[in-house]
Amino acid sequence: MMEGKPWQGRFDQPTDKLVESYTASIHFDQRLYQYDIRGSIAHCQMLAKCKIISEDEASRIVEGLGEILREMERGELVLDASQEDIHMAVEQILIQKVGELGGKLHTARSRNDQICLDMRLYLRDAIQQVRTLLFQLQGTLLDLAEKHFDIILPGYTHLQHAQPVLLAHHMMAYYEMFHRDDERLAQCLTRTNVMPLGSAALAGTTFPIDMEHTARALNFPRVTRNSLDAVSDRDYLIEFNAAGAILMMHVSRLAEELILWSTSEFAFIEISDAFCTGSSIMPQKKNPDVPELMRGKAGRVYGHLMTLLTLTKALPLAYNRDLQEDKEPIFDTVDTVTSTLRLLVRLLPEVQFHADRMAIMAEQGFTLATDLADYLVGKGLPFRKAHFVVGQFVQYCAHNGKRLQECSLEEFKKFHKGIDTDIYSFLRLESAVDRRTSMGGTASSRVRQAMEEAHGELNAKKALADL
Ligand code: ARG
Repeated sequence: MMEGKPWQGRFDQPTDKLVESYTASIHFDQRLYQYDIRGSIAHCQMLAKCKIISEDEASRIVEGLGEILREMERGELVLDASQEDIHMAVEQILIQKVGELGGKLHTARSRNDQICLDMRLYLRDAIQQVRTLLFQLQGTLLDLAEKHFDIILPGYTHLQHAQPVLLAHHMMAYYEMFHRDDERLAQCLTRTNVMPLGSAALAGTTFPIDMEHTARALNFPRVTRNSLDAVSDRDYLIEFNAAGAILMMHVSRLAEELILWSTSEFAFIEISDAFCTGSSIMPQKKNPDVPELMRGKAGRVYGHLMTLLTLTKALPLAYNRDLQEDKEPIFDTVDTVTSTLRLLVRLLPEVQFHADRMAIMAEQGFTLATDLADYLVGKGLPFRKAHFVVGQFVQYCAHNGKRLQECSLEEFKKFHKGIDTDIYSFLRLESAVDRRTSMGGTASSRVRQAMEEAHGELNAKKALADL
């Protein structure tokens, strides 16, 4: 065997060095080593159970693989481009350890199905990791809602003051987004959790294997149903990346609000020093770099999604080497999403909320105008008419530099004689908030209810360990 390449039999010349480094994936796919080895152990035991190799051979191979796993964990093995990818590296080291017998491991499989198995095992763990972090983040949002339940801030549409809302309601809006992200990941998991090994290169194998045995050993509930599809399917990676992109979009919205709210213009919050950085020139600066990077990093995750979609577009069946390019985007998506969430759950509890400032701003910009219109509807006016009357009243107040509730009863009555002294209690922030009792509304009764449901949801997830 020249150069020790497993496929050297067909070749007269050694591989060009540039080709070797261009085609190698070992520098990034060695990250899969534990999955590759676990998959190989399960495969080897299946081969023995199906009498394709002997029990004795299997136990020697499994022992060798176990040794490689431990050596990799201790960082004792240095892999290089001549080994091309993690599958060939492990096989080569195995042969060094147990001799030619190691060459039996690759019976009834191909690297094409092997890489799919590795990636599915890897992604399964990654999904679990992201879901656990989402669980923590949802818990953090719920804690904030609890702790700051009394805070009212202006709710915005078009970034203009619209109506007052509870900060808890605002936090619970993000809880909902991350709840959907978790649902998406749970769904993605069902399609990831399928065992492809045995599809071999593309057409299946002539050996009497038992794929269900391998599936059971690796805790997969299902086996792939079509070998051509199994070696070319990357849907689960694309779905994961899409879920990650949507999740990062949600994070970027939260990050944007943290940035905006910490400006002097808003002054709603202060982000703790530990999560900010300074300027090299302006001594007064305290910059919200962490949320800015969270907002920015959404971009790279979107980019990875586009990479994967483009990579698989119009790709003929079955395996094509293009598919090797799926790994770096997925690894980076996993790293970006997990590091972002990890930091977010630490940053959020440290945020200081300026309740007084929020309450003052919640009254600015005629945020109670809709309430006044609703009040008039209560006096029998059609809503459209009430809207017009209040519009005129707002204009009057704007000209006279007054808030609605600062007007005298006479002034109110000029616009509609049905307005009475109860208008003053009606136009309080708290009562405006608490009147919005429709399902999913900002009334404290509704928000309490949402928070209780959320508690139940998180407890159920915890109990199932379905995080
Ligand atoms: N390194 C390859 C990948 O990541 C593994 C499969 C290679 N198969 C092949 N026939 N060269 O896709």
